[in-house]
Amino acid sequence: MNTIQPPKILVARSIFPDALAGLRQSFEVIDNQADRVFTPAELQKYLSEVDAALVAGSERIDANALAQAKKLKIVANISVGYNNFDVPAITAAGIMATNTPDVLTDTTADFGFALLMATARRVTESEHWIRNGKWDQWSITHNPLGMDIHGSTLGIIGMGRIGQGIAKRALGFGMKVIYNNRRRLPEVDEKACGATYVDKESLLRQADHVILVLPYSAENHHTIGAKEIALMKPTATLVNIARGGIVDDVALAQALREKKIFAAGLDVFEGEPVVHPDLLKLSNVVLAPHIASGTEKTRRAMVELAIQNVRSALAGGRPPSLINPEVLK
Ligand code: 8YV
Repeated sequence: MNTIQPPKILVARSIFPDALAGLRQSFEVIDNQADRVFTPAELQKYLSEVDAALVAGSERIDANALAQAKKLKIVANISVGYNNFDVPAITAAGIMATNTPDVLTDTTADFGFALLMATARRVTESEHWIRNGKWDQWSITHNPLGMDIHGSTLGIIGMGRIGQGIAKRALGFGMKVIYNNRRRLPEVDEKACGATYVDKESLLRQADHVILVLPYSAENHHTIGAKEIALMKPTATLVNIARGGIVDDVALAQALREKKIFAAGLDVFEGEPVVHPDLLKLSNVVLAPHIASGTEKTRRAMVELAIQNVRSALAGGRPPSLINPEVLK
């Protein structure tokens, strides 16, 4: 008797057990619940065996990874950013690429704001101060004093969905919002988030707090380096929830050490999960392990959307968040 084989899929990182169980009802699944990141050779081998792959930022999907992927139809990123994808190479291989927009916008914007407030008001530094036994008395002048959020000017670099979400939150704090983006927003969207377009240099000079929310690409590697930091106010803070590589971490550490700016809040790092040792030595930087989208509800929604993309592609349809529609032509 001839039995029809279910499609085979790779789930390259650990996902929620119930989501995995759901996948096993329709597919043969190679999972990685141990969550050890695959080597490029392992990834290439697994991709050669499957019809679809769910991956994340830890998996670089390029011509090398796809070299043996003869039956792969879709790579579904569990992430909105897709700088781990070489999209032209994926398209050239006739494979669909998808990401997870929208479902993480508000959670990520919330975290951008949390990191901004923690940075400006020295929240983690204060905690370390207490844990290290330094709090012997309340003081007007000798406790960690921060910078105000309310009434200050927020400069947002990268004004996509998440940047606009942060701008809307800033309105509630009575902040003035200026932004820079590859393209200026339509007037109606600028009005909705009360933001004024300025060039990057003016933004860096005027902002009390700068937050980076732009996608990473080769062109914006080290968008913020020593030269840009030198334009900022000595009282300013810098928050990066975008991608490591957008900021020159060595230049930033030096600027923080020399108090060229007040403080930084970083959720992403060049070469993460390794954090530059100079940053680890500084007290005026708040560090987080790439958790801006990290609530269980949102991570579940990201996994669900990635699965929906896989199911659509394997059923011969158009996945809801297709990055490379030209592949269907
Ligand atoms: C992901 C993110 O968790 O969506 C993004 O772009 O940065 C995070 O939400 C991470 O990239 C997964 O690799």
